Amino acid sequence: MPNVAVIGAQWGDEGKGKVVDWLASRADIVVRFQGGHNAGHTLVVGNQTYKLSLLPSGLVRGKLGIIGNGVVVDPWALLAEIARVQSQGLRVPPDMLRVADNAILILPLHGALDRAREAARGDARIGTTGRGIGPAYEDKVGRRAIRACDLAEPETLSAKLDELLLHHNTLLRGLGAETFEKQALLDSLLEIAPKILPYVEPVWERLDAARRDGRRILFEGAQAAMLDVDHGTYPFVTSSNTVAATAASGSGMGPSAVGFVLGIAKAYTTRVGSGPFPSELHDETGRQLGERGHEFGTVTGRPRRCGWFDAAMVRQAVKVGGIQGLALTKLDVLDGLDQLQICTGYTIAGARFAHLPAAPGAQAAALPIYETIDGWRDSTRGARSWADLPAQAIKYVRRIEELVEAPVTLLSTSPERDDTIMVRDPFQG
Ligand code: IMP
Repeated sequence: MPNVAVIGAQWGDEGKGKVVDWLASRADIVVRFQGGHNAGHTLVVGNQTYKLSLLPSGLVRGKLGIIGNGVVVDPWALLAEIARVQSQGLRVPPDMLRVADNAILILPLHGALDRAREAARGDARIGTTGRGIGPAYEDKVGRRAIRACDLAEPETLSAKLDELLLHHNTLLRGLGAETFEKQALLDSLLEIAPKILPYVEPVWERLDAARRDGRRILFEGAQAAMLDVDHGTYPFVTSSNTVAATAASGSGMGPSAVGFVLGIAKAYTTRVGSGPFPSELHDETGRQLGERGHEFGTVTGRPRRCGWFDAAMVRQAVKVGGIQGLALTKLDVLDGLDQLQICTGYTIAGARFAHLPAAPGAQAAALPIYETIDGWRDSTRGARSWADLPAQAIKYVRRIEELVEAPVTLLSTSPERDDTIMVRDPFQG
């Protein structure tokens, strides 16, 4: 019985929350392995809507959640999210949530630096979530970050804060932003330490034992392949590796533990934040997709940019992300459109490209090459079998499979958990 890793195949917000929730009901453990509270997963369960940022989605199904070492954890955001879901009736005691002792902590100075740098960039801003994700990962590789385990050692915390503040206050001062005072930071960390530490442990040991016991592990990715710090549209990316290979290193397991890699893609494309988006629509159709698909960021509430399905980009995500099957979401948003376009490649200064080149100038200049396909009139919303779908919608899905070189193994036809067509159970490999 393999494990399953779920990753986004576009620029995020593909509807991972619903698919992860659906798969979580079949898993024993759900693990977050990268990103932080920049992620936003919306889960609709009965008449409750849960908006999760840091907590592994399986908690909603009563499954053990693990926050791996690859995640950057804002401890205040974590406690606030736990309090929020608890007010909705969900319990998150320490035996339901484990946090890696070697996970990096996001402090208020990271958010401050993130926002000050974005402000200084002006029109060239990346459009980050402003939550300090980038600065926290920078501190990790800069070997000056504070980790969850440090909360148990006040002397270590104190010494580390000296180094951290030397670095950050220098930067913040240079950017004309407010600086941070050591004692206040230390006091606030020591204050939350007793609330966080009961969740903290070497999670790799628990995962190793779970694997040996044959328990099913679901790795829940955040953001998406095209926001990957190596493979995405750099520098308009997040600061972590989002591809499935990270599920292993970001949780403390070997690469063979990852199992089946399920990529999630919307039946069209959206993006929040800045950066290239060759198939973006600036017309009435783009506006309609945004309205019908409720395309507003879960975390920041920003309207998402909308466009046609970019098969060239998803094919690249399939290759670099090791995606073995695709879950296609929000097909119903395309219902009633006369004609649809699928981007199959790009032209840049008159030359044809099968994939987006790495250079930002070329990416910004890329024009989509479209293939036109007829739309369908009947509704696909809530379909639970292929027989419920209009023939033309099936044709659209089949064409996507050919172009992205991966089979569609799941089709999601509404936010409701049961409105799903399963072609192949990812847990069966
Ligand atoms: P950061 O992760 O806050 O540094 O933001 C970097 C880029 O990633 C920005 O374009 C964000 O809009 C984007 N981003 C970060 N998290 C998500 C997400 O969960 N969904 C979609 N885009 C995201």
